[in-house]
Amino acid sequence: MSLIDQYNREIKYLRLSVTDRCDLRCFYCMPKGFDGYEEPEDWLNFDEIERVIASFTRLGVSAVRLTGGEPLLRKDLPVLAQRLSALPGLDDLSLSTNATRLGKHAQALHNAGISRINVSLDTVNPHKFKDITQGKLEKITTGLLQAKAVGLDPIKINMVIMKGVNDNDVEAMVDFCMEHGFTLRFIETMPIGDTGRNALDHYISLDIIEQRLAEKYQLIPAVMSGAGPARYVQVAGTDLKIGFITPISQHFCDTCNRVRLSATGTLYMCLGDEHKYELRHLLREGISDSNLDQVIRDAINLKPLKHEFNEKPEKVVRFMSMTGG
Ligand code: 5AD
Ligand code: SF4
Repeated sequence: MSLIDQYNREIKYLRLSVTDRCDLRCFYCMPKGFDGYEEPEDWLNFDEIERVIASFTRLGVSAVRLTGGEPLLRKDLPVLAQRLSALPGLDDLSLSTNATRLGKHAQALHNAGISRINVSLDTVNPHKFKDITQGKLEKITTGLLQAKAVGLDPIKINMVIMKGVNDNDVEAMVDFCMEHGFTLRFIETMPIGDTGRNALDHYISLDIIEQRLAEKYQLIPAVMSGAGPARYVQVAGTDLKIGFITPISQHFCDTCNRVRLSATGTLYMCLGDEHKYELRHLLREGISDSNLDQVIRDAINLKPLKHEFNEKPEKVVRFMSMTGG
């Protein structure tokens, strides 16, 4: 069984948002003081999530990533992780987190079958971290060290690069990741929601960052496990791998293998598009497994050929935290 869209891309990967809430306020993601969250009764419960993921795995999806908002704000996340990792056909369960609560939960997550994590971190300067997120860096570093201590591997740091905000923090982040054995990935800012669009003033092509690093280090092409669109290099003479995720300067839609499910059960076909399919009411009305499989097949056909971040930056009105990053 496989899920193939109308452009012949095979969908192997689902990003599952378990909550749209977040305990940070990254200025490019969520507006300050935002509290227009979804109601808990509208979140898919664990039984509903398990049914949807089971359906996706029957259809050939083999990788699931738990995201948010901040996924560790969802109560009993390790319980959900355990249930999902037991599903036949699911052989890669991972987590994207801001790490504020990772210190507390890393061990339970690892025990529950999560083997690798991505952590959003835009700077290792505490003052700047506070400016960007309104939060405390100390919690993140504690979380990261605990994740490493319990054996989560690889640990990838996702750094959104913004000119005049954190582009000068790249070298310090390289040192930090080298020291701790983390993989580092740079991401271009995307016009997602009004917050993301405002941050476009800080857009900088990752080419420039790569050129700058190439003056200091010898960068050799590398490969890295994972289902993502990053292009990797390795810093010669070290274990550090650096990935470049360039949705704006060089889109990678022709090899896109993923869809996203929101906390309330809406399937989004593309980060850069409003095409969606609501599953929650179908689940609550008691849809059969075979009909659910068919609905998902139909939904996949809505997947657009590519995002239009450059042509139509006004298009995506929801915040990143609503879809899952
Ligand atoms: N552009 C690029 N990345 C974003 N993220 C949130 N908003 C944006 C945006 N507008 C990233 C976060 C994190 C993940 C949730 O998505 O930094 O890595
Ligand atoms: Fe929270 Fe991630 Fe959005 Fe920051 S980018 S506010 S950590 S969801």
